[in-house]
Amino acid sequence: MTSPLRLGIAGLGTVGTGVVKIIQTHSEMLAVRSGRDITISAVSARSKTRDRGVDLSGYAWEDDPVQLAQRDDVDIFVELMGGEDGPAKAATEAAIAAGKDVITANKAMLAVHGQALAEAAEDMGRALRFEAAVAGGIPVIKALTEGLAGNEITRVLGVMNGTCNYILTRMQDAGLDYQTVFGEAEALGYLEADPTLDVGGIDAGHKLALLASIAFGTKVNFAAMELEGIEKISIEDIEQAADMGYRIKLLGVAQMTGRGLESRMSPCLVPASSPLGQLENATNMVVLQGDAVGQIVLRGAGAGEGPTASAVMSDVMDLARGTRIATFGRPAKDLIDARAAQSAAAAPFYLRLGLTDKPGALAKVAAVLGDAGISIDRMRQYGHSEPSAPVLIVTHKATRSALDEAITAMDGTGVLTAAPVAIRIEEV
Ligand code: HSE
Repeated sequence: MTSPLRLGIAGLGTVGTGVVKIIQTHSEMLAVRSGRDITISAVSARSKTRDRGVDLSGYAWEDDPVQLAQRDDVDIFVELMGGEDGPAKAATEAAIAAGKDVITANKAMLAVHGQALAEAAEDMGRALRFEAAVAGGIPVIKALTEGLAGNEITRVLGVMNGTCNYILTRMQDAGLDYQTVFGEAEALGYLEADPTLDVGGIDAGHKLALLASIAFGTKVNFAAMELEGIEKISIEDIEQAADMGYRIKLLGVAQMTGRGLESRMSPCLVPASSPLGQLENATNMVVLQGDAVGQIVLRGAGAGEGPTASAVMSDVMDLARGTRIATFGRPAKDLIDARAAQSAAAAPFYLRLGLTDKPGALAKVAAVLGDAGISIDRMRQYGHSEPSAPVLIVTHKATRSALDEAITAMDGTGVLTAAPVAIRIEEV
């Protein structure tokens, strides 16, 4: 057996502790599978004294993750601290400069600095791996870079934030409003320290930006993503979308089009009977489409100790076995600058309106849609007692700009009792 592979782990929160547990519990199995002992030389975290339920006495302790990253007895620096900049970035850069391989779960850091970090690692002949950064335990990076390496990837989509999926499915199942369920998610400890990362779609957007880079050979461009969170989703929309046969999901979609790279993370309606429509609670799902393979659906836990540590170990085992793949599946210097598509492809839309209950109100709205070239597919008016009539319209395919034009024109008709809600329906 060759020399042991020695890790330095920075960050002993949920994920770091999970990695320590796997290495301690499965040391023999890991050695047999990789042909090398996998050991931990040193660890680093904010608190040295906190009881984490694992025995850390056999490992050296470093207060400073940069020092940890530079230790002579560390072959792989495992960055599990998180944060776009600060210590995570400083220690990752130090590790690369010191000639270490790096494994990270840090989607925020990679979405912003991934290009520079990958180039730096590749210049040094080192690996920068990030399976745990996207969709937790789902081996989606491996699927894209290895399993589907012979495909031209045509589309990547999915639900990549478990907290948002929990909130949306709980609203649906219990008939509760957003604020109530947000409070429940907070009490359950589901939300990031900055909840906007979850409910604002940023965390999921970071993940989609990384997948798009691998899928389309483009430089990570999180800034160009169209981003919208779930904060404005009302229980009315959840219930009425369900009544029309849909579920609302925070859905990420990336595809290369003739107009450039289209990437968006936003609430969408998907058919209730589709795999995405049936995705419950905090589970993640990634759908990959390739020209040869067709469609692949990957489903699993997107967060948590075991699943995320499992993904970190996938990278550890690859490096132990000598499998070295460029960070984004091809040399970082070969990634191209993607032109961002200025507008999303046309799609059907769900439109919820409150109309004055007067003769001709519906006709005015229908005329405005017709004038904008938008055709109605289905329409439903609900029973009501108040003077405002709730009306739901599902359109045929339309562009968002045509729909926005129609909504502005509707405002001028004087028949609206509230601002219209428009949500894209994604064909999955
Ligand atoms: N907060 C994320 C989620 C997990 O809810 O899926 C970490 O990316």
